Amino acid sequence: MKYYLTTAIPYVNGKPHLGHAMEFVMADVLARAARIDGKEVVFSTGTDEHGGKIAEKAAELGIAPKQLADDMSQQFRDLIEALNVKPDRFIRTTDEAHKKRAQLIWKALEKDIYKNTYVGWYCTGDEEFFTETQVKDNNGICPDHNRPYEKIEEENYFFRLSHYTEQIRTAIKDGSFVVVPETRKNEIMSLIDSGLEDISISRPKAKLDWGIPVPGDTTQVMYVWFDALLNYITVLGYPEHADFAKYWPADVQVVGKGILRFHAAIWPGILLGLGLPLPKVLYVHGYVNVGGQKMSKSLGNSVSPNDIIDKYGADAFRYYFLRH
Ligand code: 2FM
Repeated sequence: MKYYLTTAIPYVNGKPHLGHAMEFVMADVLARAARIDGKEVVFSTGTDEHGGKIAEKAAELGIAPKQLADDMSQQFRDLIEALNVKPDRFIRTTDEAHKKRAQLIWKALEKDIYKNTYVGWYCTGDEEFFTETQVKDNNGICPDHNRPYEKIEEENYFFRLSHYTEQIRTAIKDGSFVVVPETRKNEIMSLIDSGLEDISISRPKAKLDWGIPVPGDTTQVMYVWFDALLNYITVLGYPEHADFAKYWPADVQVVGKGILRFHAAIWPGILLGLGLPLPKVLYVHGYVNVGGQKMSKSLGNSVSPNDIIDKYGADAFRYYFLRH
């Protein structure tokens, strides 16, 4: 029996933190259990390397985005090794195979893609589009990144996510696509009940050129989230590789609570657009807090996973973070 398991793929604009380490360990434990059960396991992880956030950081450091991605991607690999985590695949979104397959997928989805003008807000820290109401609620400042939302008006390609609302709702409701824990299932159901809107899936190259070119339009690159989500099938060689036929759909996808909407609404929409089955289980974990606060460099309460591993060893690290 096969077992396909994925983690989210972290951005490479900064060093790995405890949250990344915890997620790697969670997935590794599931993979080990499945291997002990005699299943044929593919456990995939990797790094998310395009987009404004990485381009911005590279510019700040005075290096090329690819150089930053190479350095940081290696740091994620080093952490994985130090944690004694054993993925079967490590995908980088700058891999040529991923880029080529992402372009094939774009073309396969063309019936659900149209060009329009996006007028609204964006936070490069989140790599996310925000509505007027969300921006007003936060007085114009992104609370996660402590920076003003950027007002944008630009030509984008849109994906007809709205078209798949009912199918996604039904899949979550009837349990063919399980979202756990229940709190996160309720959260996504309430978002779906308020209506899924079509989403932007490209950015103008004139504003951001660090992305996968949109096929047939030299003025646009793919929106980083669109490119990133596709990793879960490009890593299996979608569409033609035997691994894809064997391993998709994923048995479990492990992600953090902050990226629930991308994995429980947008990703299912893309899969439905491709005529593919949805993952069986989306397992959504919380954050590592210190004294009830989110760990962050600016609060000065962040701890490096490597320091903990050096002091206590990988097994103690693994036990402690799973136990909690
Ligand atoms: O939140 C993040 O770090 C994103 N880079 C996760 C992407 S997961 C998926 F889309 F591949």
